[in-house]
Amino acid sequence: MSTFWSVWISVIVLGSILGCAWLILATRKGERFKDSTEETTGHSFDGIEEYDNPMPMWWLKLFWLTIIFGIIYLIIYPGLGTFKGVAGWTSHGQWSDEIVAADQKYAPLYAELAAQDPEQLMNDEEALGIGQRLFANNCSVCHGSGGRGNVGFPNLTDDEWLYGGSHEKILETLLNGRQALMPAWQDALGAEGITQVAHYVRSLSGQKNVDETLAQAGAAKFQQNCVVCHGANGEGNEAFGAPSLSDSIWLYGGTQNIVEMTLRYGRKGRMPNFEEVLGEDRLYVLAAYVKSLSQQK
Ligand code: HEC
Ligand code: HEC
Repeated sequence: MSTFWSVWISVIVLGSILGCAWLILATRKGERFKDSTEETTGHSFDGIEEYDNPMPMWWLKLFWLTIIFGIIYLIIYPGLGTFKGVAGWTSHGQWSDEIVAADQKYAPLYAELAAQDPEQLMNDEEALGIGQRLFANNCSVCHGSGGRGNVGFPNLTDDEWLYGGSHEKILETLLNGRQALMPAWQDALGAEGITQVAHYVRSLSGQKNVDETLAQAGAAKFQQNCVVCHGANGEGNEAFGAPSLSDSIWLYGGTQNIVEMTLRYGRKGRMPNFEEVLGEDRLYVLAAYVKSLSQQK
């Protein structure tokens, strides 16, 4: 915060507090704390007149108390521009204290769970409940609350995996994150080549509305350019996170338009890593939960 804004805020805050105090003093009646008078303010409406009585004592005292409270608060806590307050409190400090306390409290619980077999965790209601809460807080923004995914974000409830569906592979995904690289083919294949290959790709998954001639021309180009990553029959390759093209599950979509778009510009799906955010023990439990999603019938 620049000095100008710091001073600006301090002046407004202190000015308002002092202004309130001034208002109380300035409107004080001459005869202090008298209970009531017969004087009126002169306002009258429908024959009802307004008495000119002083504020009730309890109300005034409360008002003074809030003013004193406000000033003490501003001395102890940050509130006046860049002044940090004598207590040295920060929201970030409180947050990290709470994190440390929570970690100390829950670490043994997670360590105990992480010592178990994944199979065991997948049959343990309590562990799955913990996994579900971790998932809701950290993963559902991208993968959906039920883990069903969305365009570009894989569905975790089917048993088709980009990088492998063993507990070990899922844990690896969570610990390190994943960065997919599907190259762009615009320059190498040209518009015509892309149309041909897209027809061929769609034929791999048994789509009916495919032009046979175009698909055949595309097959050769596929063998040349795509099999390294996607396999000779488009079965995919977990080492590259290259999806199977021979099933009807699509990460980005399987219409002619979308497949052409994928080919033209490439795709770079990124799964963030969570080792630092959640730690290995939590991720171990979470990986068991994710695996359990794909095995629900
Ligand atoms: C910022 C969005 C985002 C968040 C948050 C996120 N993911 Fe992902 N995740 C992705 C994307 C995108 C991919 C696919 C990467 C690719 O295209 O190769 C992915 C891939 C995965 C995979 C691999 C799926 C497969 O088929 O192999 C798993 C497992 C996974 N995520 C689990 C999780 C879990 C558990 C969490 C919470 C800790 C999480 N993700 C949080 C975006 C996200
Ligand atoms: C370097 C390895 C590599 C090569 C070569 C490659 N791909 Fe890919 N492809 C990938 C990866 C990795 C993804 C997943 C991208 C992501 O998750 O963001 C992908 C995704 C796709 C998709 C999207 C699938 C879906 O479910 O939406 C299509 C279609 C595709 N590739 C077709 C092709 C074709 C056709 C070729 C050859 C012209 C090709 N790829 C060449 C690695 C490759």
